[in-house]
Amino acid sequence: MYNLVVFASGNGSTLQAIIDNIENGTLSANIQLVVSDNPNAYALERAKAHGISTYVIKSKTFEGRDTELSEFLSNYSIDLIVLAGYLKMIGPNLISKYTLINTHPSLLPKYGGKGMHGMHVHQAVITAGEPISGVTVHFVNSEYDKGSIIRQTQVTVDPTDTPETLSAKVQSAEKIQLVNVINDFIHGKIS
Ligand code: GAR
Repeated sequence: MYNLVVFASGNGSTLQAIIDNIENGTLSANIQLVVSDNPNAYALERAKAHGISTYVIKSKTFEGRDTELSEFLSNYSIDLIVLAGYLKMIGPNLISKYTLINTHPSLLPKYGGKGMHGMHVHQAVITAGEPISGVTVHFVNSEYDKGSIIRQTQVTVDPTDTPETLSAKVQSAEKIQLVNVINDFIHGKIS
């Protein structure tokens, strides 16, 4: 079985899409663990509701998180770590040990980097008058949103879009793209 670990900081609708696609047979994978830096993340409730183990990171520093996670995750067999709305930087121990991918709600390299997450991205895209936005799945490296790009999907920004309506369009494209990319990892089409 292909073993995933999912990191999430908030609502966890992206995690939910992965869970749903495992349960409906689209993804032949198993989520070993859901990790969060936020004890109140709704993503943790979603995991528990599906019988998935959860882990809340205790360390409050970048180095501490990297050491703690590297030790804790050594108890698991992991093929791929998926960052699904996880907002902390990943440290060098994890980067050297695991394959990590992130999904980001814009067409990187545009609208990436520190502070560019969730609704902040959609607000910036609308303020700039962009006609097109989208989603990017990329490998994780030591800089925010800078790892090599695996796949992108475009979404049209309509003149009437608000950050909320754009977010809804981007997130529905995002879930489809992410599930497809994970499926390609499972079938050895990406490595
Ligand atoms: C997703 O749209 C994801 O791309 C974004 O946060 C949202 C999480 O939603 N991630 C980033 O902005 C990372 N820079 P969710 O908690 O409902 O899955």
